[in-house]
Amino acid sequence: MAPAIPGYCLENFTCFDPAICKKQRLVFHFLILIMIQDVERILFHEQTILRRLDELGAQITRDYEGKDLTIIAVLNGSIFFMADLLRRVQLPLRLDCLSVSSYHGGTASTGIVTFDQTSLPEVNGRHVLLLDDILDTGHTLHAICARLRSEANPSSVRICVLLRKDKVRAKNMEADYVGFDIGDEFVVGYGLDYLEKYRNLPFVGVLHPSVIERK
Ligand code: IMP
Ligand code: MG
Repeated sequence: MAPAIPGYCLENFTCFDPAICKKQRLVFHFLILIMIQDVERILFHEQTILRRLDELGAQITRDYEGKDLTIIAVLNGSIFFMADLLRRVQLPLRLDCLSVSSYHGGTASTGIVTFDQTSLPEVNGRHVLLLDDILDTGHTLHAICARLRSEANPSSVRICVLLRKDKVRAKNMEADYVGFDIGDEFVVGYGLDYLEKYRNLPFVGVLHPSVIERK
């Protein structure tokens, strides 16, 4: 019997095949148990996130009805957010991804945004909605918006983030759609990583400072 974790419940993990369900849930639970030691506290459970995505999906559906919409997801952090949100947007849309990085290890943006691919998605005359996991300093989204506007001729560019940190940003950048506002803390889970770890935690939580000091 797996031990109980405050704030996390085994039933939060859903699996629809009853034959594999029990085993899979236990394996997953132990995986979570190992990673959860590094989490100081949970901010948003999966169910809370999905409920908020119901609202965001409905809002985006209303706002973009009748428009040529291209979603550009910023990888890797937005991968779970993208998958769960887009299944709630009831519109024909195109999906592209951009891989960029600004952390280069650690917990603070270097301010240098590196694009992994040289060409941008084809969005001439289309409405672009950029999806990212988190708006922190604003460097990443600022750099992507600037490149799109100067090189790709979109009709409009808007920004949708799962999380927005409450802080003074290095770049004057605002999001049009926000899942949740959080404090200026380093968070992991539901796509967000620290040194490429913790992305598959099914919740968003604050990383324990001792993990960062341990590095
Ligand atoms: P920004 O350019 O500083 O706004 O940060 C953008 C990127 O930094 C995000 O897409 C994330 O990948 C990463 N990031 C910022 N804050 C956090 C955090 O608290 N946890 C994990 N990644 C973060
Ligand atoms: Mg990251």
